[in-house]
Amino acid sequence: MQLILAPMQGLVDDVMRDLLTRIGGFDECVSEFVRITHTVHSRPTWLKYAPEIANRNLTPAGVPCTVQLLGSDAANMAVNALEAVRFGAGKIDLNFGCPAPTVNKHKGGAVLLKEPELIHHIVRTLRDSLP
Ligand SMILES: Cc1cc2nc3c(=O)[nH]c(=O)nc-3n(C[C@H](O)[C@H](O)[C@H](O)COP(=O)(O)O)c2cc1C
Repeated sequence: MQLILAPMQGLVDDVMRDLLTRIGGFDECVSEFVRITHTVHSRPTWLKYAPEIANRNLTPAGVPCTVQLLGSDAANMAVNALEAVRFGAGKIDLNFGCPAPTVNKHKGGAVLLKEPELIHHIVRTLRDSLP
């Protein structure tokens, strides 16, 4: 049985992931969400949210870490996901679960569950774009 540390924006940042994976017990962890709007994020931004990508996607204790994206613009998410991969990300996690009103107001997170076709489009676009 694998134990995965849940992504928690504002709580499970890289410092917390380092601490908890050092203590042990977790097989994997996930970054806080990286919000995708109109811009293409630069390397420093990816490293701010997920410094693990510069360490072969491992926390300092050697536990794999996945980068999480949040957004609803499939094309822009794909461009950004490709950039994350270019900078070293090995796995992409898509946030369709955040219920926070401020996030949902901007068409991100759990509100997308009301639009399954859009979720399909996002997943299809990323799958077709990524290696
Ligand atoms: C403070 C907080 C922040 C969260 N941030 C994220 C997030 O960034 N991405 C995500 O996918 N889920 C996020 N979640 C959801 C959790 O990862 C988890 O799926 C949720 O808490 C359900 O698990 P539970 O029933 O054990 O609480 C967050 C939850 C909490 C409480």
